[in-house]
Amino acid sequence: MKKYFVIGNPIDHSLSPKLHNWWLKENNIDARYDKIKLEDHEIKNFILNIKEQKIAGCNVTVPFKKTVIPFLDKLSPEAEQTQSVNTITFDNGDLVGHNTDIAGFDTAIKKLNFNVKGKKVLILGAGGVVPSIIFALKNMHVQEITISNRTREKAENLRDLFNNLKILEWGNLTDFHMIINATSLGLNNEIINLDFPSFGNDKLFYDVIYNPHETSFLKIGKELGYITENGKTMFVYQALEAFKLWHKIEPKVNTDTFKLLDHD
Ligand code: ATR
Repeated sequence: MKKYFVIGNPIDHSLSPKLHNWWLKENNIDARYDKIKLEDHEIKNFILNIKEQKIAGCNVTVPFKKTVIPFLDKLSPEAEQTQSVNTITFDNGDLVGHNTDIAGFDTAIKKLNFNVKGKKVLILGAGGVVPSIIFALKNMHVQEITISNRTREKAENLRDLFNNLKILEWGNLTDFHMIINATSLGLNNEIINLDFPSFGNDKLFYDVIYNPHETSFLKIGKELGYITENGKTMFVYQALEAFKLWHKIEPKVNTDTFKLLDHD
């Protein structure tokens, strides 16, 4: 039986095993997907197991999306540009790093009735998933991307990776059509203390967090009458793209898929 994993730290919260095992069963694939918590120094050996095909492939989550790169043979263009790998495959003797977060975010936004082309986007946070979001937004031809992060240096590192990013001091707000919470604030019901604008219409409040399904950030957006969306669709479609890379089958996504992931 082939074995797949998601590696991260922490990893308890990950719903990837639930989703992948559901799809494996649905498609009669003889394989099993588990989560495993690793420390930095364990990454290299873990990845060697894929090279030796003791493990068929893995997903990578925070904080290892960049850490894994030196141990891989090749990167997809998207993984290269974002310096972020969330899926590892073994192709013709090579370990290949892919980034399916980009396609996950892209699909999530396209499924919303909200056109981001020519719009101003403000991203709160500069953690693991932000390079993928920036990559996807640039492909959607947004007008402007501003990053605001508590630790300014991390926003500056992103500016080195992408052209034309604006940086805003944490605690301030600028005009936006779409605002994205990519911080971990809200995972444990923390509140983002910002003075969100209550004017204008047609704004989108997007939260990468999907558990809890409605963070205080999204509640505020809703109360102000704006469109809101959590990160569940992105999560499902990044998993779908990984599943396609490993099994060459497109799994089904329907209301049952989303129900499977409901637990709050
Ligand atoms: P990582 O930074 O390891 O990639 P992440 O969960 O992807 O982890 O990112 C956490 C994000 O939430 C970061 O942007 C972090 O800001 P810092 O770069 O300053 O650490 C942000 N964050 C976490 N706690 C925060 C807080 N109390 N206030 C503001 N931002 C916070």
